[in-house]
Amino acid sequence: MIVTGGRLIGHEIVTIYCHFSSLFENVCWYCVTTRNKGILDNLSKTSVPIVDRGSICKAADIVRSGGLVAFPTETVYGLGADASNDEAVASLFAVKERPSFNPLIVHVPRRNSLEDVARCDARSLSLADRFWPGPLTMVLPRSADSNVSWLASSGLDTVAVRMPDHSVALELLAKVNGPVVAPSANMSGSVSPTTAEHVQESLKWGVEMIIDGGPCRIGIESTVISLVDNVPCILRPGGISREVLEEEIGAIVSNKINGLSPLAPGMLESHYAPSRPVRINVTEVMPGEALLAFGPSQLASDSESLNLSPSGDLEEAASNLFSMLRRLDRAEFVAVAVMTIPESGIGRAINDRLRRAAATPLTP
Ligand code: TXA
Ligand code: MG
Repeated sequence: MIVTGGRLIGHEIVTIYCHFSSLFENVCWYCVTTRNKGILDNLSKTSVPIVDRGSICKAADIVRSGGLVAFPTETVYGLGADASNDEAVASLFAVKERPSFNPLIVHVPRRNSLEDVARCDARSLSLADRFWPGPLTMVLPRSADSNVSWLASSGLDTVAVRMPDHSVALELLAKVNGPVVAPSANMSGSVSPTTAEHVQESLKWGVEMIIDGGPCRIGIESTVISLVDNVPCILRPGGISREVLEEEIGAIVSNKINGLSPLAPGMLESHYAPSRPVRINVTEVMPGEALLAFGPSQLASDSESLNLSPSGDLEEAASNLFSMLRRLDRAEFVAVAVMTIPESGIGRAINDRLRRAAATPLTP
């Protein structure tokens, strides 16, 4: 029988989920740790295969039949599943150990597919015209006849939609010929992957293949904007800056209420976290720390250091951020010290990820 643990586990989760929806997380863990331990032990000894774009047709077949495949986008690698298939979506949450209250982004292959899943207005249509394909995710009211799984949107009556700007992603989405959910292809809370190898290091089971498209061009996730209310609101800064979006639709507010509470359900304070502590806005490097530098005037350090952009280019820094954090995330360092990054343009997205990487988790 050729079936992966992910699908089998996904099936069991869905079965149990129907009966104990409020216990979803615990049930996931029960499945993973108890019932399928034997499967997991075997699966963890092998790694998910990396394939080239010649396997896109096969990958589309896997997604259509309920499996999970990782694929490149211009921002980060995504873990794709059929958005209309509850079982596939449940297995995706389980594989990433993602909290079920954190909804997923629906990926579409063309601009016209937007109206299949969401209710649009003049603002969303003009943003799609101008910025798609590209690193912009729009949160919109769900369309009445949407076939997107309610698990995918965590039961919300809104849906996040994006059309990625990567030829492999677009070809895969066109071949699946239906909405595909794709969170970043990493364990929940850890650093997002920008190469196929990062995905292979992070996800050990439940994924059938990783399509290699080389390093991601932008290297930081899409900007998430909510257009549900009259005033548009940025829920997550990302690959397209607020200034550029404002040129198209006017004033946009930020994602904080009283500077504190995040509006996007997935914007947990501690996120994007390497295993070593991260110290930000440093003016000196402490003994035993690795240095993540930015710009031409690099701080002195007698330990290992990497520079996000020696010329001080924020786009270059964004594209290097996650891969350099991974390279410095080693037990021999007491922490990773990061120099100050300017809070403008894509620098806001970089600082958002760094602040979350530096935040102390609420639970161990
Ligand atoms: O660049 C990207 O967006 C990547 C690539 C793979 O496309 N995907 C990605 O997905 O970053 P993920 O799942 O890691 O982040 C999705 C974000 C989360 O912060 C989630 O809370 C928010 O989008 N989101 C999704 N649906 C939402 C909704 N209906 N309302 C508010 N926020 C939503
Ligand atoms: Mg993510």
